[in-house]
Amino acid sequence: MTTNAYAGLDLTGQRVLVIGAASGIGRAAALLLGGRGAEVVCADRNGPGAAETAAELPGAVAVEVDVTDDRQVHERLATVMGPDRPLHAMVNCAGITGTTALVSHEIDVKDFEHVFDVNLRGAFVLSQAVLPHMTTNGYGRILHVASIAGKEGNAGMVSYSASKAGLIGMVKSMGKEYAESGVTINAIAPAVIRTQMVEEMPESQVEYMVARIPMRRCGTLGEVAEAIAWAVSPAASYTTGFVYDLTGGRAVY
Ligand SMILES: NC(=O)c1ccc[n+]([C@@H]2O[C@H](COP(=O)([O-])OP(=O)(O)OC[C@H]3O[C@@H](n4cnc5c(N)ncnc54)[C@H](O)[C@@H]3O)[C@@H](O)[C@H]2O)c1
Repeated sequence: MTTNAYAGLDLTGQRVLVIGAASGIGRAAALLLGGRGAEVVCADRNGPGAAETAAELPGAVAVEVDVTDDRQVHERLATVMGPDRPLHAMVNCAGITGTTALVSHEIDVKDFEHVFDVNLRGAFVLSQAVLPHMTTNGYGRILHVASIAGKEGNAGMVSYSASKAGLIGMVKSMGKEYAESGVTINAIAPAVIRTQMVEEMPESQVEYMVARIPMRRCGTLGEVAEAIAWAVSPAASYTTGFVYDLTGGRAVY
C-alpha cells in the first residue's frame, strides 16, 4: 500500500511554473505537481509565500513576480527557462475578485480596471512570456484558472465575471493559434473552492454561488489540483483552446 499522499500520475522530468503559488489553488497545485515528481517553480507577487511553498518541495525554487508588471514578468520568467532548462508547463492561478456584492453602477472603474489587469492582462503577458520558449521547444502546456463566473456571470461580481469571460475568449483564440506547435493552451473553470479569496468575500456572495451548484458543496483544493496536474501533463495532448469544468454540475457547456 502506498504512503505517498500524492501518488498518481507520474510527472518526473517535467518543469512546471506555478503563478499564484503562495496561496489557495496555486499552492495546492504546486504541492501536488511536486509530489508527483515535477520540478516546480513557485511564483507569486507574495515572494515569501511563494518561498514557503517552494520550501516544502525538493528542488523547487521561488520567484517574486507581479503579473501586472510586464517588464518584471518577462525579466523574472526569463531566469527560470532557457535552452538548458526547458519549461514544460505554466499554471496561472494568480487572480483577484476585486470588490464584490455591489451592483455594476456602484463599482469604481479603477477597481474594474485593476481586476482586468491581474486576471486578464496578466494572463496575456504571462502567456507572451513563455510562448516563444515553448514553441521553440515544440512542446508546452499553458493552463489558466478562469471561473464559472466567466461563463455565466455572477451578480455582484461584474469585474471578476467580465475578466474571466475575457480570459476564456483569450484561451480559445490562443489555443487555435498554436494548435500545430505542440503547445496546448487551456483553462479550468471552477465554481467555488474554499480558499483565502473566498474567505474574504461576503458570506451572502458565497451563499449565492454555492446555491447554484447541483452537488450543493464547494469543490476541494485536491479536486482542483488533480485536474490541473492532468491538464498540464504530457498525457493531455489532444485538447487545446478548451475550458475544463470543475463546477459540481453547475456548468451546462
Ligand atoms: N476559490 C475559488 O472558489 C475560485 C473559483 C473560480 C476561480 N478561481 C480562480 O482561481 C485562482 C486562484 O484563486 P484562489 O482561490 O486560490 O485565491 P488566493 O487568493 O488563495 O490565491 C491567489 C494568489 O494569487 C496571487 N496574486 C494575486 N495578484 C497577483 C499579482 N498581481 N501577481 C502575482 N500574483 C498575484 C496572490 O498573492 C495569491 O497567492 C484565481 O484566478 C481565481 O480567480 C477561484
